[in-house]
Amino acid sequence: MSRTRLKLLAAFAAGVLAVALAQTWAARSWVERRDLAQARALLEREALWVAELLADRSFDPAHITELAGLAHDAAERTRARVSLIARDGTLLADSHVSLVQLERAEDHAARPEVRAALAGRTGFHARRSSTVGGQWLYLAVPHPDGAVRLARDRASLAGPLSELLGRLVWTGLVGSALAGLGLWLVTTRLWSAPLAQLRATLESLARGELDARVHLRAGGELGQVAGAVNRVGEQLELRLREISNEKEQLQAVLGGMVEGVLVLDSQGRIALANPRLRELFELRGELLGKRPIEAIRNAAIEVALAEAARSGAPVVRETAFGVGERRVLRVHAAGFASGAGRGVVAVFHDISDTRHLEAVRRDFVSNASHELKTPLTAIRGFAETLLSGGVPPEDSARYLGIILRHAERLSLLVEGLLELSRAESGQLALERMRLDVVEVARAVLQGLEGRLRERSLDASLSESGAAPALADHTALVQILENLLDNAIKYTPPGGKIELRVSADPHWVHVSVSDTGIGIPESHRARIFERFYRVDTARSRALGGTGLGLAIAKHLVQDLGGQISVESAPGAGSTFRFTLPRA
Ligand SMILES: Nc1ncnc2c1ncn2[C@@H]1O[C@H](COP(=O)(O)OP(=O)(O)OP(=O)(O)O)[C@@H](O)[C@H]1O
Ligand SMILES: [Mg+2]
Repeated sequence: MSRTRLKLLAAFAAGVLAVALAQTWAARSWVERRDLAQARALLEREALWVAELLADRSFDPAHITELAGLAHDAAERTRARVSLIARDGTLLADSHVSLVQLERAEDHAARPEVRAALAGRTGFHARRSSTVGGQWLYLAVPHPDGAVRLARDRASLAGPLSELLGRLVWTGLVGSALAGLGLWLVTTRLWSAPLAQLRATLESLARGELDARVHLRAGGELGQVAGAVNRVGEQLELRLREISNEKEQLQAVLGGMVEGVLVLDSQGRIALANPRLRELFELRGELLGKRPIEAIRNAAIEVALAEAARSGAPVVRETAFGVGERRVLRVHAAGFASGAGRGVVAVFHDISDTRHLEAVRRDFVSNASHELKTPLTAIRGFAETLLSGGVPPEDSARYLGIILRHAERLSLLVEGLLELSRAESGQLALERMRLDVVEVARAVLQGLEGRLRERSLDASLSESGAAPALADHTALVQILENLLDNAIKYTPPGGKIELRVSADPHWVHVSVSDTGIGIPESHRARIFERFYRVDTARSRALGGTGLGLAIAKHLVQDLGGQISVESAPGAGSTFRFTLPRA
């Protein structure tokens, strides 16, 4: 039995006992009062009758024997103790006291009922008898010579009502006990079992088993409580689902972001970091709980985060980082209230590409101006000299030749720039068609035969599983010409040039290898930029503008392919590009 049920049982037992006791006490006192009143009335009637009977008898101590007989007679008739008392209080006769004892009896004038009767009134008193012992009721009435007193043992008074009372008390006690037991059983069934179920359900909910529910068919308050508990469970389940949905969405957003996100708690420790952040800073291992300086190790970022935590305004900083500080990051950090302190949320944008593009554009303008300025200066100088006159005829022919060369270079530059700008802006009218790449390559090589021979270079073309490509003829010719032109220019006489064509299910691969001077690693990434040359003077001496690879790269990209370079300085270079298969 559970503690609650035991307590309930004890409470019921105490309650039943208290009610029974109170009932008994009330009934008893009522019955007693009633019995007493009845007994008193009866005693009074009998006493008056005895007094009437003895009215003409004198209470003379000389007739004590006769008086004793009378008292006995009267006692017999009334079944009460009859005492005859003289005016001075002497007990003259008493039905319950022998003549011998009578002499030793004390003076009765002091007894309250006797005092009242001697004063001419009816006197009544209930007390212990000092003469015969036991509880007695005394009633005395006046007699011309003293008083007549009747007394009855209290125990003999117990009438039918008292008996009834006894039975009533017992049946009441047993009945209340039974009723109490029944009530207790019903209550425990109605309360304890449902309460136990409620408790179990609440404990399950507290443990996180949010599908726990109370199954009660009880109505009333218990039913309402059960309903409320179930609603709490439903709400908790709903909230939890909402929270986990939100969390998933947040994870998805954070996971898909191009920007790195870092959240610091009010202690300045990492509370959240998205995958992109790890990627940006190449972070591994657990980040949560660490300080940013331990993980990211960048003083500028640390300062920006600290400033955002202090001030209310967002902080924006740019910082270079990574190997050779080649990457540029912009961090936006803002503080937010977190508990008693302030947390920080910071977003990191990698703006290296933007910065690079800006630099390329700046370089392009200055490079282009510079490239154009050199031939223009030369043309202008020689033209002015010629105009000033006095130039010997043999020199003027040479000067004119120089002017022509520079003019040709100028037009080459302008042509290249125009072409590049067309390729870059996608304005080139590319006519994609099925092309036999090997065929086109062969034709281009044929066109270059003269120059190859001039520089004693050996060129070969090979194919392995080649397939037709989907490309523009002019664009392909131009790409090949630019790559072969470089190979010729940057390979010393006696060298070898190889053109290879192959294919995979999606792409046609073309490579141009030479045994030339090669390209140092540090320049490789930039040779596809406009005007970028490893050795400007050498390139220029060879008639290069530094635009060939930039144009080739744009054309390949416009056709949907990719271009790359591998090189071993001093041993040669290999340029590869792909074109989509037809
Ligand atoms: N096959 C190669 N071997 C060695 N260096 C090369 C090779 N191809 C290109 N380069 C280097 O890359 C630079 C850029 O090449 P690009 O073709 O863009 O310009 P260019 O050949 O100098 O001029 P243009 O092609 O406009 O006449 C060259 O100046 C050269 O330094
Ligand atoms: Mg070139």
